[in-house]
Amino acid sequence: MTAQLETTAQAMVADGKGILAADESTGTIQKRFDSIGAECTEDNRRDYREMLFRASDAMSNCISGVILYDETLRQNAKDGTPLSKVISNTGALPGIKVDTGAKDLTFCSGEKVTEGLDGLRERFAEYYDLGARFAKWRAVITIGDGIPSRTCIETNAHALARYAALAQEANIVPIVEPEVIMDGPHDITRCFEVTEASLHALYDELYAQKVHLEGTILKPNMVVSGTENSTQAGVEEVAEQTVKCLKRAVPSSVPGICFLSGGQSDEDATAHLSAMNAMFDSPWKLSFSYGRALQAAALKAWGGKAENLAAAQAAFSHRAKMNSLAATGAWKTALEEAA
Ligand code: 13P
Repeated sequence: MTAQLETTAQAMVADGKGILAADESTGTIQKRFDSIGAECTEDNRRDYREMLFRASDAMSNCISGVILYDETLRQNAKDGTPLSKVISNTGALPGIKVDTGAKDLTFCSGEKVTEGLDGLRERFAEYYDLGARFAKWRAVITIGDGIPSRTCIETNAHALARYAALAQEANIVPIVEPEVIMDGPHDITRCFEVTEASLHALYDELYAQKVHLEGTILKPNMVVSGTENSTQAGVEEVAEQTVKCLKRAVPSSVPGICFLSGGQSDEDATAHLSAMNAMFDSPWKLSFSYGRALQAAALKAWGGKAENLAAAQAAFSHRAKMNSLAATGAWKTALEEAA
C-alpha cells in the first residue's frame, strides 16, 4: 500500500510538472464565470474544463495531475468520454477535492474550520473507483487582530490529519493544504510566524495519526506580505522567507511541496516559484498547484464562447509552460514578453 502511495506522490512532482487546481465548487466557479459574463450551466462548466484538459501539449508536458470537483469527476466530455479519462489519456492523474468547505469555527470569531470527515471513508472508496489517485483538503487560516487562535490552528491540523489517514487507507495520496490567507495589513514576518506555526501543528498531527509522509504532498501558501501592507516584499525575499519557513517545519521525507497561488498575480506566482528553485537546494521538489494563476488568462480568453476555445487553450498552455519552467528554476521574465 505504501509503495503505491509513494509512486503516486512522486509522479505528482515529476521534473518540470505541477498540478492544475480545477476543483472550484459550483459556487466558486459561478463567481469566476460571472467575472467574464458566462452563464454557469453544467454544460458550460464541462466545456470550459474540457477545453483545459484537451490542451494536450500543456497537459502532457507540464501537468502531473488535475484536482477535480465531484461534479467533474462524474462528468463526460462532449463526445461521451469521461473527463477523468480525457485527463489520464494525457498522462496526468485525476484527483479530487474532498472537503466540504470552511465553516465558521464555534467560539472563534472570524475563524474557520474545514468540514467533510463524515462518511469520508466510503466517499474515498467510490472516488478511487472513479479514477481518483490523489485528493485535496484545504484548511483556511486567517491573519487578523489576535488571530489565528491556537484553537483554529490545532482544530484544522487535526482535521487535515484525519483526512490524510483516511485517504491513504484508500490508496489515495492526500494533498494537505493549510492555507494562510494573504489578505490583510500584516507584514511578511507575521505571515512567516503564522505559516510556521500552522505547519508545525500539521506535522505534529500527521505524526500522531500515523500518516505515511512519503505518500503525501504539501500545498502551502508562500510567505508573502499581507495584500494591504504598504511594503510589499520582492521576489527574492519571498523566495528566501518561504524556503526558510518550510525548512524549519516540513520533514525532508515529504516528496513534494506544490504551492497554491492564493490571489497572487499570474506572473508573481511563477516568479516566486522559479526564484525558490533557482536560489536554493531543497530536500523536496518545489512545484505548483495553482488554480487562479493557471486559469485566469485562459478563462478571460475563453469568455464563455466556443469560438474562443483555441485562444483559451493557447493562454492556458503558455501559463502551464511558464510554471513548468519555474518548477526547475528556469523561468525568465523575458519569456513572458516574448509571448
Ligand atoms: P489558487 O491557486 O487560486 O489559490 O487555488 C488553489 C487551490 O486549489 C486552493 O485550494
